[in-house]
Amino acid sequence: MIVTIDGVAASGKSSVSSGVAQALGVPYVSSGLLYRAATLLGLEASLDLHAAPHLLTLLGTHPVRLEPLAGGNRVWQGERELTDDLHSTRVDRGVSVVAALPEVREWVDAQLRALPEPFVAEGRDMGTNVFPHASHKFYLTASARIRAERRARERPEDVPAIEAALQRRDELDTVQSAPAPDALVIDTGPLDLQGVIDTILTRLR
Ligand code: ADP
Ligand code: CDP
Repeated sequence: MIVTIDGVAASGKSSVSSGVAQALGVPYVSSGLLYRAATLLGLEASLDLHAAPHLLTLLGTHPVRLEPLAGGNRVWQGERELTDDLHSTRVDRGVSVVAALPEVREWVDAQLRALPEPFVAEGRDMGTNVFPHASHKFYLTASARIRAERRARERPEDVPAIEAALQRRDELDTVQSAPAPDALVIDTGPLDLQGVIDTILTRLR
C-alpha cells in the first residue's frame, strides 16, 4: 500500500504525512529532502546548480541515503547527517533549480522506487509520476499568505519575504507540481493540522 500526499511549498505535506503515517503505523517518505540534499551538497562544493554532470558525479561518489521514519525523515551522506542543514534559506532558494534537472529527478525517483512498501510518500509528483498506481492520493493547497504565515514560525525572514520566495518556488515547480487526476485536493487554509490529517484518515477508512 502506498499513499501519496503532494502539494505546493509549505502546504503541510511533511507534517500531515507524518501524522497520517503514525496513525497507520507505517513510515513516511519525504522526497523533497533528497532534492534538498542534492542542493546542499552542490552549494557546499560551489557547483553551478544549473549543470547536472558535476552534481551527478558528486552524488555518485558521495551517496546520499534517505531514512524514512514515521516521526520524521533523516538524510545521511556516509556517517554525516545532513537533516538539520536541509531547511536553510539558501537551500530553499536553490532547490527548484536543482529539481528541474531531469538527471537529478531520475536519481531521486530511483531511490524512492527502491523503498519497501507500505509507506506514505510526500512531494510534488508522487501521485503523478513516481507512484501512479498508489492506492490513495491527496494534494494539499493553501493561499501563499497562509503558507508564508505558517512558515514564518520556522524561518528568520518576515512574512512578505517568505511569501515572495514561496510564490517564486511555486512558479519554478509548476511543471512537476500538479494534482493527479485521481487525487483528492484539500484546501488546508481553513483547517488545522489535525483537521487535515483526519480528512485523509477518514477517506482511507
Ligand atoms: P511542507 O512539508 O508542505 O513544506 P510543513 O509540513 O513543513 O509543509 O508545514 C509548514 C508549517 O505549517 C509547519 O510549521 C506546520 O506545522 C504548519 N502547518 C501545516 N499544516 C497546517 C495547518 N493545516 N494548519 C496550521 N498549521 C499548519
Ligand atoms: O514543502 P517545501 O516545498 O518547502 O519543501 P520540499 O517538499 O522539501 O521540496 C523542496 C523542493 O524540492 C520543491 O520546491 C521542489 O522544487 C522539489 N521537489 C520536487 O521537485 N519534487 C518532489 N517530489 C519533491 C520536491
